[in-house]
Amino acid sequence: MNDDAARPPLIRLRGVTRVYGAGQAMVRALDGVDLDIEAGEFVAIMGPSGSGKSTVMNILGCLDTPSAGEYLFRGVHVERLSRDQRARLRRRHLGFVFQGFNLLARTSAIENVELPLLYRGEPAAARRAAAREALRSVGLAGREDHTPGELSGGQQQRVAIARAIVTQPTVLLADEPTGNLDTQRGREIMELLAALNRDRGITVLMVTHELDMAAYARRALGRTACRRRRAAWPAGPCHCVAPGGAAGAGGNEMCPQAHCVRCPPGGALSTFGTAGRY
Ligand SMILES: Nc1ncnc2c1ncn2[C@@H]1O[C@H](COP(=O)(O)OP(=O)(O)OP(=O)(O)O)[C@@H](O)[C@H]1O
Ligand SMILES: [Mg+2]
Repeated sequence: MNDDAARPPLIRLRGVTRVYGAGQAMVRALDGVDLDIEAGEFVAIMGPSGSGKSTVMNILGCLDTPSAGEYLFRGVHVERLSRDQRARLRRRHLGFVFQGFNLLARTSAIENVELPLLYRGEPAAARRAAAREALRSVGLAGREDHTPGELSGGQQQRVAIARAIVTQPTVLLADEPTGNLDTQRGREIMELLAALNRDRGITVLMVTHELDMAAYARRALGRTACRRRRAAWPAGPCHCVAPGGAAGAGGNEMCPQAHCVRCPPGGALSTFGTAGRY
């Protein structure tokens, strides 16, 4: 049962639009996106290049604001918050893994991971201990003093994830976390995200181009033409979970999610951006 008034979803977007530029150069990166994410979900967002995936992640991560529409976090209107209030929301609740790793190049892994705690004003000893623990939890114990240049791509992505989880966020937003990795390294990162979701209850929202990676999520959303991609769907039961509901056990044909990229008919989250197309 879902009583919207009594228990708002963790995240709700309504009619979110983001327009860049003006006149001839105007780009409508998002055009009326509706999205609900419940606490504890692991959701993959899919879509072609330029369809607004990073734009929506930046809005969800309070790094950008919509041109129009509503963003509610636990029922609070984020688009009405001041810049400082949004920054506090970000520091307290949101961890962000960027499409590039965005690590400071000449700075050690542990110092990179400590940064969000520095912004929070945590004392040095507590910062160091938390960063060490975050690096250990992503499998990088012993690499604390290496700079990004001394780490592999997969290890750099782990540092980026450690930096995102060191604050113990409610939500982890990961924009193409496997985009720069080979398949095996990509799978390891996905297993790490799945474990953070399963074992720590962190809500994970991830952007990916790859159906293999989306299959780790319990629900996939996207502005995709499902029918066209159907041949590429992985075999096996659908992993989708309806908000507040049970996993669809009936296979791809039976998924309860209207917007699941794996499910017919259409299955398109048609409002998800307008710039890209299949
Ligand atoms: N700062 C900006 N100024 C102008 N246009 C922008 C800006 N940022 C993004 N856009 C445009 O908005 C659209 C959506 O961009 P976005 O980066 O969200 O796409 P994406 O789905 O993440 O693509 P990719 O899969 O390639 O990362 C694109 O057409 C892009 O060119
Ligand atoms: Mg992007």
